[in-house]
Amino acid sequence: MPDRTRSVRIDDVIAVKTIEDSCFPSPWDIDVFATLASSGGCNTLGRGKQASMQVIENNGSVAGYVVWEDCLDTSEGRVLNIAVSKNLQRRGFGKSLLQHVFDSLTGRGIKTITLEVREGNFAARRFYERMGMEESGSVPDYYEDEDAIIYSITL
Ligand SMILES: CC(C)(COP(=O)(O)OP(=O)(O)OC[C@H]1O[C@@H](n2cnc3c(N)ncnc32)[C@H](O)[C@@H]1OP(=O)(O)O)[C@@H](O)C(=O)NCCC(=O)NCCS
Repeated sequence: MPDRTRSVRIDDVIAVKTIEDSCFPSPWDIDVFATLASSGGCNTLGRGKQASMQVIENNGSVAGYVVWEDCLDTSEGRVLNIAVSKNLQRRGFGKSLLQHVFDSLTGRGIKTITLEVREGNFAARRFYERMGMEESGSVPDYYEDEDAIIYSITL
């Protein structure tokens, strides 16, 4: 069983960005991670919204991370980004990260969680399905070059 997750720290940001660049065709800017890290992994966004980020370690190094937001006004959560270092995938790190999000949101009274994934990202789609999420729609041209499939779960 992989180590537990913890809040992102400033000294994680380079490792996170390295994983991000290796996993995504249009990676997030490092500033997004730095902003979350500098606020201890949790940012209040106003209008009942909050953004959060956790990392998971393997032998003292960052193995993966997850970013999500929740809105208490609507009781909805949304996973914005999740990735595990390529050489550490299929070892349960992703499952631990997403389960942390489910547990954290449940603790805040959030019932419904959604996310978007590239239509052709079959590995991630299998992963979300394994985590109990179900396909609930699509968004044409959500990405520059591809449609998004929406997955959701009611906890
Ligand atoms: C999606 C991702 C986060 C999953 O993380 P992970 O640590 O590899 O996943 P886990 O080891 O926890 O897998 C849990 C289960 O999900 C399913 N799964 C995960 N990766 C899979 C794959 N490549 N193919 C098929 N099923 C997969 C399996 O059922 C797996 O259980 P098993 O290994 O016992 O069969 C990881 O593949 C990743 O970082 N991908 C690149 C970034 C990305 O696409 N993120 C999602 C953007 S929407």
